[in-house]
Amino acid sequence: MRNLDENTITDEAIRRLEGCKDARFKEILTSLTRHLHEFAREVKLTEAEWMQGLEYLTAVGKKCDDKRQEFILLSDTLGLSMLVVALNNAKPPGCTEATVFGPFHTDKASDFRNGDDLAQGASGEPAFVRGTVRGLDGKPVPGAVIDVWQADGDGIYDVQYTDKDGALFARGRLRSEADGRYWFRSILPEFYSIPTDGPVGDWIARAGRHPFRPAHLHFMIQAPGYERLITHVFRGDDKYLDSDAVFGVRSSLVSDWVRHEPGTAPDGTRMDKPYYTLDFDFVLAPAGK
Ligand code: BEZ
Ligand code: FE
Repeated sequence: MRNLDENTITDEAIRRLEGCKDARFKEILTSLTRHLHEFAREVKLTEAEWMQGLEYLTAVGKKCDDKRQEFILLSDTLGLSMLVVALNNAKPPGCTEATVFGPFHTDKASDFRNGDDLAQGASGEPAFVRGTVRGLDGKPVPGAVIDVWQADGDGIYDVQYTDKDGALFARGRLRSEADGRYWFRSILPEFYSIPTDGPVGDWIARAGRHPFRPAHLHFMIQAPGYERLITHVFRGDDKYLDSDAVFGVRSSLVSDWVRHEPGTAPDGTRMDKPYYTLDFDFVLAPAGK
Protein backbone atom coordinates (compact mmCIF):
# COMPACT_ATOMS: atom_id res chain seq x y z
CA MET A 1 0.00 0.00 0.00
CA ARG A 2 1.38 3.43 -0.92
CA ASN A 3 0.19 7.05 -1.05
CA LEU A 4 -0.99 6.80 2.53
CA ASP A 5 -2.38 9.99 4.04
CA GLU A 6 -3.31 11.14 7.53
CA ASN A 7 -6.59 9.26 7.32
CA THR A 8 -5.54 5.94 5.74
CA ILE A 9 -2.17 5.29 7.45
CA THR A 10 -3.69 3.99 10.70
CA ASP A 11 -5.58 1.10 9.10
CA GLU A 12 -2.49 0.16 7.10
CA ALA A 13 -0.20 0.23 10.18
CA ILE A 14 -2.68 -2.06 11.94
CA ARG A 15 -3.06 -4.34 8.90
CA ARG A 16 0.73 -4.96 8.96
CA LEU A 17 0.23 -6.77 12.28
CA GLU A 18 -1.77 -9.49 10.51
CA GLY A 19 1.10 -11.99 10.70
CA CYS A 20 1.58 -11.59 14.45
CA LYS A 21 1.11 -15.03 16.08
CA ASP A 22 0.92 -13.78 19.66
CA ALA A 23 -2.76 -12.80 20.02
CA ARG A 24 -2.34 -10.67 23.15
CA PHE A 25 0.71 -8.85 21.75
CA LYS A 26 -1.26 -8.17 18.57
CA GLU A 27 -4.24 -6.87 20.54
CA ILE A 28 -2.06 -4.48 22.56
CA LEU A 29 -0.11 -3.21 19.52
CA THR A 30 -3.29 -2.72 17.48
CA SER A 31 -4.89 -0.63 20.20
CA LEU A 32 -1.66 1.28 20.92
CA THR A 33 -1.26 2.15 17.22
CA ARG A 34 -4.88 3.28 16.94
CA HIS A 35 -4.71 5.47 20.07
CA LEU A 36 -1.29 6.98 19.26
CA HIS A 37 -2.40 7.91 15.75
CA GLU A 38 -5.68 9.31 17.02
CA PHE A 39 -3.80 11.35 19.62
CA ALA A 40 -1.54 12.88 16.94
CA ARG A 41 -4.55 13.70 14.75
CA GLU A 42 -6.56 15.12 17.66
CA VAL A 43 -3.87 17.59 18.83
CA LYS A 44 -2.52 18.12 15.27
CA LEU A 45 0.95 17.25 16.53
CA THR A 46 3.67 19.36 14.91
CA GLU A 47 7.02 17.88 13.88
CA ALA A 48 8.79 20.02 16.50
CA GLU A 49 6.45 18.79 19.24
CA TRP A 50 6.89 15.17 18.14
CA MET A 51 10.70 15.58 18.32
CA GLN A 52 10.39 17.27 21.74
CA GLY A 53 8.37 14.27 22.94
CA LEU A 54 11.00 11.82 21.71
CA GLU A 55 13.78 13.83 23.34
CA TYR A 56 11.75 13.88 26.55
CA LEU A 57 11.36 10.07 26.57
CA THR A 58 15.08 9.73 25.86
CA ALA A 59 15.82 11.90 28.91
CA VAL A 60 13.47 9.76 31.03
CA GLY A 61 15.39 6.65 29.93
CA LYS A 62 18.76 8.26 30.67
CA LYS A 63 17.62 9.08 34.22
CA CYS A 64 16.97 5.39 34.96
CA ASP A 65 19.53 3.17 36.68
CA ASP A 66 19.40 0.29 39.16
CA LYS A 67 18.16 2.65 41.89
CA ARG A 68 16.04 5.12 39.95
CA GLN A 69 13.11 4.20 37.66
CA GLU A 70 11.97 7.41 36.00
CA PHE A 71 9.56 5.58 33.64
CA ILE A 72 7.60 4.20 36.61
CA LEU A 73 7.51 7.71 38.07
CA LEU A 74 6.23 9.02 34.72
CA SER A 75 3.51 6.36 34.69
CA ASP A 76 2.66 7.16 38.34
CA THR A 77 2.31 10.90 37.75
CA LEU A 78 0.21 10.38 34.61
CA GLY A 79 -2.22 8.27 36.65
CA LEU A 80 -1.44 5.22 34.51
CA SER A 81 -0.01 3.14 37.37
CA MET A 82 -3.09 3.67 39.52
CA LEU A 83 -5.34 2.91 36.52
CA VAL A 84 -3.56 -0.43 36.07
CA VAL A 85 -3.88 -1.12 39.82
CA ALA A 86 -7.62 -0.38 39.61
CA LEU A 87 -8.06 -2.60 36.54
CA ASN A 88 -6.33 -5.56 38.16
CA ASN A 89 -7.32 -5.40 41.80
CA ALA A 90 -11.09 -5.49 41.92
CA LYS A 91 -11.61 -7.30 45.22
CA PRO A 92 -14.80 -8.59 46.83
CA PRO A 93 -16.48 -5.96 49.05
CA GLY A 94 -14.99 -5.93 52.52
CA CYS A 95 -11.42 -6.61 51.42
CA THR A 96 -8.69 -4.06 52.00
CA GLU A 97 -8.19 -2.04 48.82
CA ALA A 98 -4.92 -1.98 46.91
CA THR A 99 -2.92 1.05 45.87
CA VAL A 100 0.22 1.94 43.98
CA PHE A 101 3.46 0.01 44.77
CA GLY A 102 5.88 2.91 44.31
CA PRO A 103 9.61 2.71 43.61
CA PHE A 104 10.98 2.44 47.16
CA HIS A 105 10.37 -1.19 48.13
CA THR A 106 13.41 -3.44 48.46
CA ASP A 107 13.66 -7.20 48.97
CA LYS A 108 16.73 -6.57 51.11
CA ALA A 109 14.68 -5.49 54.14
CA SER A 110 15.44 -7.35 57.39
CA ASP A 111 13.11 -9.68 59.27
CA PHE A 112 11.74 -8.41 62.56
CA ARG A 113 9.59 -9.82 65.35
CA ASN A 114 6.29 -8.31 66.38
CA GLY A 115 7.01 -5.51 68.84
CA ASP A 116 10.38 -4.59 67.32
CA ASP A 117 11.27 -1.01 66.38
CA LEU A 118 11.46 -0.81 62.58
CA ALA A 119 12.65 2.82 62.72
CA GLN A 120 16.24 1.68 63.32
CA GLY A 121 17.28 5.25 64.05
CA ALA A 122 15.19 6.99 61.35
CA SER A 123 14.20 10.58 62.16
CA GLY A 124 10.56 11.13 63.12
CA GLU A 125 8.00 11.05 65.93
CA PRO A 126 7.61 7.62 67.57
CA ALA A 127 4.57 5.62 66.49
CA PHE A 128 3.15 2.23 67.49
CA VAL A 129 1.20 0.34 64.83
CA ARG A 130 -0.98 -2.70 65.47
CA GLY A 131 -3.80 -4.68 63.94
CA THR A 132 -4.98 -8.05 62.69
CA VAL A 133 -4.78 -9.77 59.31
CA ARG A 134 -8.00 -11.62 58.49
CA GLY A 135 -9.63 -13.38 55.57
CA LEU A 136 -12.96 -12.28 54.13
CA ASP A 137 -14.62 -14.92 56.34
CA GLY A 138 -13.32 -13.03 59.40
CA LYS A 139 -10.86 -15.79 60.33
CA PRO A 140 -7.40 -14.63 61.41
CA VAL A 141 -4.59 -15.28 58.95
CA PRO A 142 -1.54 -16.63 60.82
CA GLY A 143 1.98 -16.41 59.41
CA ALA A 144 1.17 -13.73 56.81
CA VAL A 145 4.37 -12.05 55.63
CA ILE A 146 3.95 -8.34 56.24
CA ASP A 147 6.40 -6.06 54.47
CA VAL A 148 6.34 -2.48 55.78
CA TRP A 149 8.20 0.57 54.42
CA GLN A 150 7.97 4.31 54.85
CA ALA A 151 9.85 7.57 54.43
CA ASP A 152 11.60 9.01 57.49
CA GLY A 153 10.45 12.12 59.36
CA ASP A 154 12.16 14.27 56.70
CA GLY A 155 10.13 12.60 53.95
CA ILE A 156 13.06 10.63 52.52
CA TYR A 157 13.31 6.86 52.05
CA ASP A 158 16.46 5.07 53.24
CA VAL A 159 17.19 3.94 49.65
CA GLN A 160 17.27 7.59 48.49
CA TYR A 161 20.21 8.52 50.72
CA THR A 162 23.59 8.46 49.03
CA ASP A 163 25.62 9.18 52.19
CA LYS A 164 24.50 6.38 54.52
CA ASP A 165 26.37 3.35 53.10
CA GLY A 166 23.14 1.71 51.95
CA ALA A 167 21.81 1.40 55.52
CA LEU A 168 18.13 0.41 55.63
CA PHE A 169 15.72 1.95 58.13
CA ALA A 170 12.00 2.57 58.60
CA ARG A 171 11.26 -0.72 56.87
CA GLY A 172 11.11 -4.43 57.68
CA ARG A 173 9.36 -7.75 57.33
CA LEU A 174 7.11 -9.24 60.03
CA ARG A 175 4.80 -12.24 60.30
CA SER A 176 1.32 -12.22 61.76
CA GLU A 177 0.89 -14.32 64.92
CA ALA A 178 -1.34 -17.41 65.25
CA ASP A 179 -4.29 -15.12 66.03
CA GLY A 180 -3.54 -12.90 62.98
CA ARG A 181 -2.21 -10.01 65.05
CA TYR A 182 0.83 -7.89 64.14
CA TRP A 183 2.40 -4.97 65.96
CA PHE A 184 5.52 -2.89 65.68
CA ARG A 185 7.08 0.42 66.57
CA SER A 186 8.20 2.88 63.90
CA ILE A 187 7.72 6.59 63.17
CA LEU A 188 4.83 8.84 62.25
CA PRO A 189 4.71 9.20 58.44
CA GLU A 190 4.95 12.71 56.99
CA PHE A 191 3.96 14.00 53.55
CA TYR A 192 6.84 14.07 51.09
CA SER A 193 7.80 15.06 47.57
CA ILE A 194 8.28 12.47 44.86
CA PRO A 195 11.73 12.86 43.22
CA THR A 196 11.69 16.09 41.16
CA ASP A 197 15.33 16.26 40.03
CA GLY A 198 14.58 14.57 36.69
CA PRO A 199 12.33 14.89 33.63
CA VAL A 200 9.22 13.95 35.62
CA GLY A 201 9.84 16.85 38.01
CA ASP A 202 10.16 19.10 34.94
CA TRP A 203 6.83 18.12 33.41
CA ILE A 204 4.77 18.34 36.59
CA ALA A 205 6.23 21.81 37.33
CA ARG A 206 5.45 22.93 33.76
CA ALA A 207 1.92 21.56 34.20
CA GLY A 208 1.49 23.61 37.38
CA ARG A 209 1.16 20.52 39.57
CA HIS A 210 2.67 19.96 43.01
CA PRO A 211 4.88 16.88 43.63
CA PHE A 212 3.60 15.84 47.08
CA ARG A 213 2.25 12.55 48.36
CA PRO A 214 0.12 12.54 51.52
CA ALA A 215 1.76 10.85 54.53
CA HIS A 216 1.45 7.06 54.39
CA LEU A 217 2.83 3.74 55.48
CA HIS A 218 3.36 1.06 52.79
CA PHE A 219 2.29 -2.55 53.31
CA MET A 220 2.70 -5.66 51.20
CA ILE A 221 0.97 -8.69 52.75
CA GLN A 222 1.28 -12.26 51.44
CA ALA A 223 -0.16 -15.51 52.76
CA PRO A 224 -0.85 -18.88 51.10
CA GLY A 225 -4.44 -19.11 49.85
CA TYR A 226 -4.85 -15.33 49.62
CA GLU A 227 -4.18 -12.71 46.97
CA ARG A 228 -1.10 -10.60 47.59
CA LEU A 229 -2.13 -7.18 48.90
CA ILE A 230 -0.06 -4.09 48.07
CA THR A 231 -1.41 -1.04 49.81
CA HIS A 232 -0.81 1.99 52.06
CA VAL A 233 -2.42 3.40 55.18
CA PHE A 234 -2.73 7.19 54.86
CA ARG A 235 -2.76 9.79 57.65
CA GLY A 236 -6.23 11.26 58.02
CA ASP A 237 -5.03 14.80 58.79
CA ASP A 238 -2.91 15.27 55.65
CA LYS A 239 -3.54 18.28 53.42
CA TYR A 240 -2.63 16.34 50.26
CA LEU A 241 -5.20 13.52 50.55
CA ASP A 242 -7.24 14.97 47.65
CA SER A 243 -4.31 15.85 45.40
CA ASP A 244 -1.84 12.97 45.77
CA ALA A 245 0.81 13.41 43.03
CA VAL A 246 0.28 9.75 42.01
CA PHE A 247 -3.51 9.44 42.53
CA GLY A 248 -3.20 6.63 45.11
CA VAL A 249 -5.61 7.68 47.88
CA ARG A 250 -8.68 5.59 48.69
CA SER A 251 -10.94 6.65 51.55
CA SER A 252 -10.94 3.15 53.02
CA LEU A 253 -7.16 3.42 53.49
CA VAL A 254 -7.25 6.71 55.42
CA SER A 255 -6.84 6.30 59.16
CA ASP A 256 -5.92 8.23 62.31
CA TRP A 257 -2.60 8.12 64.03
CA VAL A 258 -3.73 9.09 67.56
CA ARG A 259 -1.41 11.43 69.46
CA HIS A 260 -0.65 10.59 73.11
CA GLU A 261 1.06 12.67 75.77
CA PRO A 262 4.25 11.21 77.33
CA GLY A 263 3.44 8.08 79.35
CA THR A 264 3.42 4.34 78.93
CA ALA A 265 3.28 3.15 75.30
CA PRO A 266 1.24 0.08 74.25
CA ASP A 267 4.34 -2.13 74.51
CA GLY A 268 5.06 -0.92 78.07
CA THR A 269 7.89 1.44 77.02
CA ARG A 270 8.03 4.59 79.14
CA MET A 271 7.83 7.46 76.62
CA ASP A 272 9.20 10.83 77.76
CA LYS A 273 7.86 12.57 74.64
CA PRO A 274 4.53 12.42 72.79
CA TYR A 275 3.92 9.36 70.68
CA TYR A 276 1.30 8.12 68.20
CA THR A 277 -0.71 4.93 67.77
CA LEU A 278 -2.34 3.50 64.65
CA ASP A 279 -4.80 0.60 64.68
CA PHE A 280 -5.39 -0.92 61.27
CA ASP A 281 -6.82 -4.33 60.35
CA PHE A 282 -6.33 -5.90 56.94
CA VAL A 283 -8.78 -8.17 55.12
CA LEU A 284 -7.22 -10.36 52.41
CA ALA A 285 -9.08 -11.56 49.33
CA PRO A 286 -9.12 -15.33 48.75
CA ALA A 287 -6.77 -16.41 45.96
CA GLY A 288 -8.17 -17.04 42.52
CA LYS A 289 -11.64 -15.50 43.00
C1 BEZ B 1 5.75 5.98 47.13
O1 BEZ B 1 4.73 6.02 47.78
O2 BEZ B 1 6.73 5.53 47.71
C2 BEZ B 1 5.78 6.50 45.73
C3 BEZ B 1 4.83 6.10 44.83
C4 BEZ B 1 4.87 6.60 43.54
C5 BEZ B 1 5.86 7.49 43.17
C6 BEZ B 1 6.82 7.91 44.09
C7 BEZ B 1 6.76 7.41 45.39
FE1 FE C 1 5.66 6.17 49.74
